[in-house]
Amino acid sequence: MAYRIGFSQCSMDGPWRKAMLAGMQRELSFHSEVELRVTDAHDNSQRQQQQIRELLREGVDLLIVSPYESEPVTPAVEQAMRQGIPVVLVDRRTGSPEYTAYVGGSNKAVGEMAASYADRLLGHQGRIIEILGTPGSSATSDRHQGFTEGLRAYPGLQVVGQVTGNWQEKTLKPALATALQQHPDVSLIFAHNDAMGRGAFEVCQQLGLAKQIRIIGVDGLYGKGEGIDLVQRGVLDASLLYSPGGEDAMRTALKILRNRPFKRENLLGSIVIDSTNVETMQQQTDKIVSQQQDVERQQGLLQSLRATYASQQTILYGLLFA
Ligand code: FRU
Repeated sequence: MAYRIGFSQCSMDGPWRKAMLAGMQRELSFHSEVELRVTDAHDNSQRQQQQIRELLREGVDLLIVSPYESEPVTPAVEQAMRQGIPVVLVDRRTGSPEYTAYVGGSNKAVGEMAASYADRLLGHQGRIIEILGTPGSSATSDRHQGFTEGLRAYPGLQVVGQVTGNWQEKTLKPALATALQQHPDVSLIFAHNDAMGRGAFEVCQQLGLAKQIRIIGVDGLYGKGEGIDLVQRGVLDASLLYSPGGEDAMRTALKILRNRPFKRENLLGSIVIDSTNVETMQQQTDKIVSQQQDVERQQGLLQSLRATYASQQTILYGLLFA
């Protein structure tokens, strides 16, 4: 049975989103009967709505959606559900309970972990600036809520400033510089992702505050300039692992399409990556990446063997029936 899956991605910028797609494609390499159609909304909710509706018009059997902002993308997802097209939400949520399954990290738990790690790192006392992701995206509100609620247990910690960074390194810099000039006694920054943590470090360096300020980020991605590397280099004190979940999302999608039992809420676990475990994380990830490359090489080999077999069969038939 052949299936068509539509994937509405809020943005394809940055290695984290690319890792999500790569995970989906890796899973699909075992299922040649599935066709994946991918759209990129370039961080624009209007465009994402239109693209979801286009995918529905073209005809897909299932939709995977990672919404840029919750509310504006909700009507298109609800339309899909009304038309009987199952929807798997990945990483971010819509503003409605009408979806088939969710796959992603628990953003609230990520915020709570950041709060308890900050308490340990600062020895129960300190002033904090929080750098938020795009307002209106569920990852932002959940990470913020988890962090705020988590901090209630630690009266010695105080959030003295908030900066909105839109998940990107560049946009937060002027606002963070202003906030740090107003609060030069800040001792920790919680950035909602590692990219913004990287940007925050540069601002701290420029202001001569890099030694005094600890930075916690989120994502813990593999690769140069990403979370694991940033912790190794001491740019970030810690990064909270937040898996892109591409493979998991695709596996859930395939279960739904095949009418197999599936879980509606699939929360991917997180851990703190810091100086105590970063080497192990790096080695483990190196191993996984090299195993993935082996699988890809084997698949390539299998394909060329199939092609050779097919052409030899043709020659054989030619010889037998000439
Ligand atoms: C990538 C990203 C990640 C973050 C996630 C939140 O677009 O900003 O860095 O963890 O989205 O939804």
